[in-house]
Amino acid sequence: MNILFASSEVAPFIKTGGLADVAGSLPKKLAEMGHDVKVILPLYEGVAQQYREKMKLLCHWNCRVAWRTPYCGILELREDNISYLFVDNEYYFKRAEVYGHYDDGERFTFFSRAVVETPAHLDWHPDVIHCNDWQTALVPIYLLEERERVWQLRGSKSVFTIHNIEYQGRYGDQVLEDLLGLNRGYMNEHMLAYHGDVNLMKGAIYAADYVTTVSPTYAEELQYPFYAHGLEGVVADNRWKLQGILNGLDADLYDPSNGAGLAAAFTPDDLGGKAACKAALQRAVGLREDPNVPIIACVSRLVRHKGFELVAAAIPEIMNMDVQMVVLGTGEWNFEEAFRHAEAQYPSRFSARIQYSAALSTAIYGGADLFLMPSVSEPCGLSQMIAMRYGTVPVVRETGGLKDTVVPHGVFGDNGFTFADINAHDMVWVLGEAVDLYYNDKSAWRGLQHNGMTRDFSWNEPAREYEGVYYQITGIPRPEAE
Ligand code: GLC
Repeated sequence: MNILFASSEVAPFIKTGGLADVAGSLPKKLAEMGHDVKVILPLYEGVAQQYREKMKLLCHWNCRVAWRTPYCGILELREDNISYLFVDNEYYFKRAEVYGHYDDGERFTFFSRAVVETPAHLDWHPDVIHCNDWQTALVPIYLLEERERVWQLRGSKSVFTIHNIEYQGRYGDQVLEDLLGLNRGYMNEHMLAYHGDVNLMKGAIYAADYVTTVSPTYAEELQYPFYAHGLEGVVADNRWKLQGILNGLDADLYDPSNGAGLAAAFTPDDLGGKAACKAALQRAVGLREDPNVPIIACVSRLVRHKGFELVAAAIPEIMNMDVQMVVLGTGEWNFEEAFRHAEAQYPSRFSARIQYSAALSTAIYGGADLFLMPSVSEPCGLSQMIAMRYGTVPVVRETGGLKDTVVPHGVFGDNGFTFADINAHDMVWVLGEAVDLYYNDKSAWRGLQHNGMTRDFSWNEPAREYEGVYYQITGIPRPEAE
């Protein structure tokens, strides 16, 4: 099957969050399964020279977006049996920051338009165009008309995946004709219209042939206003074509047995090397070197919806236990300050690394004992799965993908600890139980680690589910297994 996968970020080329990891690993798996996969993304300034050197210009033309005709170049990089297509327009994408510009709406309208116009210029028919989040939400909408007009798109189906419903792409209705190039007909309750505005994510949910989100629990949660941020009715209306599919991980990338980025390698059956990782971590982040004290770690953007209000409020209670703590990430200044303050208050027991560092995050996954993730909402979450791969036991709030991946202590298959309410005391209570188990029941602790390390978090299963969706909406029969 021919699959065009569109995303505003794709690892390793450009990354601000988990979307890039998914866009960097799911297509690889699909290509491995024998599909013809093209991944399309903008050519941002941040895409490194080492990749640019391997690109070649395939074609260029002027897009049609309302009255504008912006230049669009397609540069191709072939790797892992995938064709990565970079959309070149320096006016829109030659900027230091990926998001946060006054004209993001226009930039990603252009990108979406480029996605839909590309197949004709490559003379290639995509059976499925798979888009992700609001930045590509216009793709399924443009496709409605284009597949009637352009023969390479005849019968092409769209899948729209919601990675986070909080960012919807909402603009005043004056953008409809002038910016999006759509007629007034699209301004209706079963398409873009939303309280008098244009809502791109809403439109995509209606227009797409199928909608997925990144965990089964998040798919459920999206029925409620608390999680759906105003789109609960839209989700309910489209439930018949909505499915939650848990994200996978690039299992080779996060593998402690190859020792990459770690002080020592280790495996589920021989955790010996983890002690060296722990000592190295303590040295690297300025914690007292002590093999016996449990290290609690957070690696995250330091923002409210990741639950840092709870963590910040509970620092004294957490530090009352016999533990060390390390926090890595940047974000809202009040959290950054709270953790800096804690570091000053608990020298060599609390470490605040207010920065983004891939190398340090690997050292933390490898060397820590507990991984704390008290998210207010978490569509899927990848860090808890990565932590488990490295035998670092997660403590999470029961929401979204956290609920679908972390099995609480005492339940069959347990691999971590969970709490239900958005409440700092509940979190501290459960952390206390975890610390207690760490000190007093080594074999139960080993059991949690082993279960986490050996659970299949790869793309094998989830990619099969996406494939199932593609076969279902295209009507192409799934080839018989040999
Ligand atoms: C978003 C979500 C996160 C998810 C990621 C990849 O960043 O917030 O929970 O893991 O997308 O789907």
